[in-house]
Amino acid sequence: MSSRVWSDVDRYITETLVQPDAALEAALAASDAAGLPQISVSPPHGKFLWLLARLANARRILEVGTLGGYSTIWLARGLASGGRLISLEALEKHAAVARANIERAGLAAMVEIRVGQALDTLPRVEGPIDLAFIDADKQNNAEYFRWALKLSRPGSLIVVDNVVREGKVIDAHSREASVLGVRRLNDLLAAEKRVSTTAIQTVGIKGYDGFAVALVLA
Ligand code: SAH
Ligand code: DHB
Ligand code: MG
Repeated sequence: MSSRVWSDVDRYITETLVQPDAALEAALAASDAAGLPQISVSPPHGKFLWLLARLANARRILEVGTLGGYSTIWLARGLASGGRLISLEALEKHAAVARANIERAGLAAMVEIRVGQALDTLPRVEGPIDLAFIDADKQNNAEYFRWALKLSRPGSLIVVDNVVREGKVIDAHSREASVLGVRRLNDLLAAEKRVSTTAIQTVGIKGYDGFAVALVLA
């Protein structure tokens, strides 16, 4: 089993089932043209985020880590009518690309991007949120999760991207900041009685990784 077949199958799933449209493809093209890193969620993962937003009947969504707004567009399309999404991004350059992409997707009225270090902008986010997607710098994952939980209500979902990192997550001796961040998040998730969590390993065009989904119980 190799990453070649993972990518081929991801493309097959994308072509047959996901069918991303012009606005989503334009968002990726504009992000590439601006030199942004190619680390947006894959089309199947984007559609999964949309599906979670729909299932949650989400009226308020919080995203941490906007990049070019690809995941933002999928999530915002899943908002219930009248719903709003706030996405937090450290870099003005990324936010500018994302704003143009979101505008092109016809979602500007529902989406607000706030620029700054997320730990500085999170205290001004108003809850309750129905869904959070955490996908920024991995070393701060635990703090972002704490904020998402604080802004949640029973029934809210908190999704965290990149929690497997090619299996490096099980290396208890890792010195990589991102791996340490994911492990610290998992320790917190395990100890936190107000959520119940699982993590799903994934393969595809982005290699081998995974995401965690936590349901807020109380
Ligand atoms: N969610 C996006 C990908 C996000 S990539 C998608 O799937 O389409 C991670 C983003 O987090 C980058 O744009 C990076 O600039 C941003 N980021 C990194 N550190 C941050 C911080 N401390 N606060 C806010 N954003 C941060
Ligand atoms: C990286 C970050 C991501 O959010 C992702 O989905 C993949 C890779 C990274 O920083 O390498
Ligand atoms: Mg990610």
